[in-house]
Amino acid sequence: MAASLQSLNLNPLSLKPFHKSSTLTFSKSNSIRCSAATPSKRSYTITLLPGDGIGPEVISVAKDVLLLSGSIEGIKYEFHEKLLGGAALDATGVPLPDETLSVAKESDAVLLGAIGGYKWDKNEKHLKPETGLLQLREGLKVFANLRPATVFPQLVDASTLKREVAEGVDLMVIRELTGGIYFGKPRGFGTNENGEETGYNTEIYAAHEIDRIARFAFEVARKRGGKLCSVDKANVLEASMFWRKRVLALAQEYPDIELSHMYVDNAAMQLIRNPKQFDTVVTNNIFGDILSDEASMITGSIGMLPSASLGDSGPGLFEPIHGSAPDIAGQDKANPFATVLSAAMLLRYGLGEEKAADRIEKAVLDTLNRGFRTADIYSPGTKLVGCKQLGEEILKSVESHIPAGAL
Ligand SMILES: NC(=O)c1ccc[n+]([C@@H]2O[C@H](COP(=O)([O-])OP(=O)(O)OC[C@H]3O[C@@H](n4cnc5c(N)ncnc54)[C@H](O)[C@@H]3O)[C@@H](O)[C@H]2O)c1
Repeated sequence: MAASLQSLNLNPLSLKPFHKSSTLTFSKSNSIRCSAATPSKRSYTITLLPGDGIGPEVISVAKDVLLLSGSIEGIKYEFHEKLLGGAALDATGVPLPDETLSVAKESDAVLLGAIGGYKWDKNEKHLKPETGLLQLREGLKVFANLRPATVFPQLVDASTLKREVAEGVDLMVIRELTGGIYFGKPRGFGTNENGEETGYNTEIYAAHEIDRIARFAFEVARKRGGKLCSVDKANVLEASMFWRKRVLALAQEYPDIELSHMYVDNAAMQLIRNPKQFDTVVTNNIFGDILSDEASMITGSIGMLPSASLGDSGPGLFEPIHGSAPDIAGQDKANPFATVLSAAMLLRYGLGEEKAADRIEKAVLDTLNRGFRTADIYSPGTKLVGCKQLGEEILKSVESHIPAGAL
């Protein structure tokens, strides 16, 4: 599984190049080192976790795209499909069966659809689908979540923002994924001194957790536009004051990076006022969760955005940022682009298979250029299709020779 440092590109549109890898360690020179499967291996085990709702629909498309692009590029896959979330609860009584986690840990990369749904909403916390996903991220130790938000030129008008605000947006949100308030203790329900019921959580970060995500973000910024914005709430929260102190200390090692700090409330506002001011953003778990969803809307639809979650070792976890969309599940309405682009991230950052990743990303752009759209990104004059037909169109683009000028 060891690979040498590779110059990879994190952006699905290849606008801003940077080094990336699935598993990260930092050499003395602070370069990102990839220890994922080597491209020369050319044969990989992939754990597929379709999950719930639209998950199986979009994973089916992504699997076909992986297979076809793999056969063209000479890559073989062994897929292991496992249960997660509500599907796992129904079959086994737990949201993350031991077998799912152990198979995922043994594979070269994990591709996830989505989990959750009305059926399990009232379950106790430890029996919620979402608990399974958090346990999976924790089990794989994937602490860095990369969420590109790129406005595709073909979809500028699908953005809810004015064309001049949305056009050209190309930012990367790096969210800390395994710490902070989602995992901090103490947490729970109690009673206060007045006998009133309470609910509480703890926002807590240890120095090493901040340092590793901040270092990761500096490295990413270095390979993108050289600008890093650290988002916190250091005017109120001690955990944020500590976050800022550590980020500032680390900045000494990155004099070439233009570092700024922004309070999260301002960042939420600036993201819709002038998103082009951002290049790379780093933030904690909860702020990253919210801001990356907000950033996604700039791009037109949550159905367009992939993500990669990476750790120091072991397989990366690749998933669309959307949920299980129970309102459209089973109706062939899901947009599979986000999952297909997640498969491209899997190839690029998980396996170091850049050519195959490139092929998929170009196929997505080609399919958009040919006018095919699911309902969430439809605009008059384009061709409205369902998830399955869009998948077939993506396959045609994967197979076709795409002329350089067409993109
Ligand atoms: N990573 C995950 O698996 C994940 C993430 C977020 C939410 N969830 C779960 O998903 C369920 C629904 O949550 P939600 O409604 O807040 O978020 P959601 O992302 O599932 O849906 C929000 C809206 O976006 C639409 N949408 C989402 N993905 C789409 C796609 N690919 N194509 C077209 N439209 C799409 C949905 O139809 C819905 O209107 C909940 O159970 C939630 O816990 C899971």
